[in-house]
Amino acid sequence: MSLSRRAFVRSLGVGSAGALSTPWILGRSGEALNWTPDPFEAVLQASTQQEVIKISGNENARGPGEAAVDAMVKLIRDNVGRYHFNLAREELPEAIARNLGYGLTAENVLISTGSGAILTAGVRAYVSESRPLVNGAPSFGSPNRTASQIGASIREVPVDANLRLDLDGMAEAAIGAGLVFLCNPNNPTATAHSLADVTAFIERVKASSPDTAILVDEAYIEYATDANVETATTQALEHDNVFVARTFSKGYGMAGLRLGYAAARPATLAKLNAAWGLGSVNILTASAAIASLNDPDRMLNEREENRRVRNFTRRAFEEMGYETTDSQTNFLFVNVRQPAAEFRDAALDQGVQVGRDFPPMEQTHARISLGTMEEMERAVEVFRRILET
Ligand SMILES: Cc1ncc(COP(=O)(O)O)c(C=O)c1O
Repeated sequence: MSLSRRAFVRSLGVGSAGALSTPWILGRSGEALNWTPDPFEAVLQASTQQEVIKISGNENARGPGEAAVDAMVKLIRDNVGRYHFNLAREELPEAIARNLGYGLTAENVLISTGSGAILTAGVRAYVSESRPLVNGAPSFGSPNRTASQIGASIREVPVDANLRLDLDGMAEAAIGAGLVFLCNPNNPTATAHSLADVTAFIERVKASSPDTAILVDEAYIEYATDANVETATTQALEHDNVFVARTFSKGYGMAGLRLGYAAARPATLAKLNAAWGLGSVNILTASAAIASLNDPDRMLNEREENRRVRNFTRRAFEEMGYETTDSQTNFLFVNVRQPAAEFRDAALDQGVQVGRDFPPMEQTHARISLGTMEEMERAVEVFRRILET
């Protein structure tokens, strides 16, 4: 039986629930894997010798800063056995509000175990069978899934020729809708709109369809290097039913710790809070977040390193003759001029795991998250082998 590395890696559950878990592999000693007549075991050895570079999930390859890790370790040592409820419920929203500025107070911040919960709450609060969801296509898909679950329709507005969200088209589609989901920067196209454009969009929708809510998802905004791309928090403070979702999963490197939040007027936050369970943020996460907010240099370094890795990777694709969008994020959206599935399978065969399909662009474009510089140097070699042959 011939067994490709790809099929085997899949069976190991890289990126999905598989028959064998990665810890299971890591738990095996190298010695036990030295020699075997079993072809399955032989592939297993190969897969442990060359680690898969996982650049599929828009994660932060560098993880949280040292201050965040130190804060968690200290808390474990001091007394993690206590509830310390005030840390997550009071100190964290206060720290977030102070850090964001714009005159925000803790009343304007609603925390959740990941910003995904805020998105779910937003759809559940404002979308219904009679009030559709408006989303870009392609854009982040979780609001669409929630809308489908509750039997609501979705007005999908294709991105424009530069793969930017079509704000005019979305404003038209917003008339009579329950909620517009505006992902800025947009996942997966990596493009972003200026604060001036987003403000004009919000004002237009509020004028033409006052009851339509607007969710601006800023999961990747820390990585935006275009100076005109800024948070829409001031807009959320100015209008009812306009809210911004942010996360500590990306720029702050805390995806596994699960922390996100919404910023808005208290009355808007009350509707989100009533619509969906937002979880219970634990004290390790809260302490890591507060320490991160108090360490602005680490975020500056993270942005700068991401920009360096992004420039390197973009240039490599350009040199190979392949177009990428103007990424304002920690991933690239590349016109690989072949189905994403073919490119993905070829990359996985060579130990690099890139993003899934993003309809309606899955016949031409692949999403590639940015890892460390070292990972991207190795990944680019693989991309060269695939795209230049
Ligand atoms: C655009 C966007 N919003 C929200 C999320 C949810 O992130 P989290 O729940 O980790 O905060 C993601 C995750 O990839 C995302 O890409």
